Amino acid sequence: GNIDLGDFDTYMLKEIFEQPQSLENCLRGRIDDDAASAKFGGLNVDVQDLRHVDRIVLTACGTSWHAALVGEYLIEEFARIPVEVEYASEFRYRNPPMTDRTMTFAITQSGETADTLAALRESRRKGHATMAICNVVGSTIAREADGGIYLHAGPEIGVASTKAFTSQVTSMMLLALYLGRMRHLSFPAGQRLIKQMRQLPQLVEKTLACNEAVAKIATKYFDRNNFLYLGRLYNFPVALEGALKLKEISYIHAEGYPAAEMKHGPIALVDEVTPSVFVVPHGTMYPKVMSNLEEVKARKGPVIAIACEGDKEISAAADDVIFVPDVEEYLQPIVTSIPLQLLAYHIAILRGCNVDRPRNLAKSVTVE
Ligand code: G6P
Repeated sequence: GNIDLGDFDTYMLKEIFEQPQSLENCLRGRIDDDAASAKFGGLNVDVQDLRHVDRIVLTACGTSWHAALVGEYLIEEFARIPVEVEYASEFRYRNPPMTDRTMTFAITQSGETADTLAALRESRRKGHATMAICNVVGSTIAREADGGIYLHAGPEIGVASTKAFTSQVTSMMLLALYLGRMRHLSFPAGQRLIKQMRQLPQLVEKTLACNEAVAKIATKYFDRNNFLYLGRLYNFPVALEGALKLKEISYIHAEGYPAAEMKHGPIALVDEVTPSVFVVPHGTMYPKVMSNLEEVKARKGPVIAIACEGDKEISAAADDVIFVPDVEEYLQPIVTSIPLQLLAYHIAILRGCNVDRPRNLAKSVTVE
């Protein structure tokens, strides 16, 4: 398309900086204050049927699969429905037990990914209500699904997905709220979630102020060959996504792991040159992730921390710190994923890579 780059050199950077707006668009018209719930125009399901859903399958590829993992935690936490996250390429050939109360959501930016489309068709063939969470209006998956939620993120041109990811996560939050409110979630609890979600665009705007700090940190590490990304709970999928972003556009090998799993393998990779990126915002897991971080430091591994503004301990513990706003744990993926998008971006630029068109990758993978 002829979409204007404006002040930006690349679509990827433009799209990263569009996130306050894309999240605003994702939330617009979807909050139901009277019901302290969410509302969707296109789900096309009877509320009574939705109430009877007792299992949800989220299926996707790539970055969308990471958003699905966040969705699993959100839906299980707020709606208490068991969720399974499946790579579309696996799900399409597997035969997991599902009942007529199972609902499938195919999560896809493009709406054209071949494996995700096949997973949707397989789910529909077996009679399950199958929804799309999709960005591209009128795409194949959007058309073939029984109903769904559009991200309204606007066109994403950069091959590495950024604004679609945060919109997918935000859509999962709205969905968790909606399903929660038709089950056990109270009115005041719904109101609390709404109040916090409404702050997302502004919080993302504040988060983007880390760009200069991230660019500086990138100059220190861009020549490394391996990176580890570690986080827990809501920030475990963020660690996976951070590692994927780096791999995709800088061609540096990176692994994302749940921080506590590190001791079962990845810690063997730690040495004086391999950076570990710890996602360690305030919350339940803070002391646990900090102790993982100290294990890396004890082995002389360089540590880059993504931490909350106002964290007084972190600067002494990590070599470099990127600060993000201090938000509720379930909102953290939105603010912690942004510095990781920027870190991958600046490292790739310093290595002379074409960030909008990385080698061997396609924006939408329409072959199996
Ligand atoms: C490709 C893209 C990724 C994307 C994945 C799934 O690999 O390069 O950025 O996450 O496909 O795409 P989808 O359009 O289904 O979200």
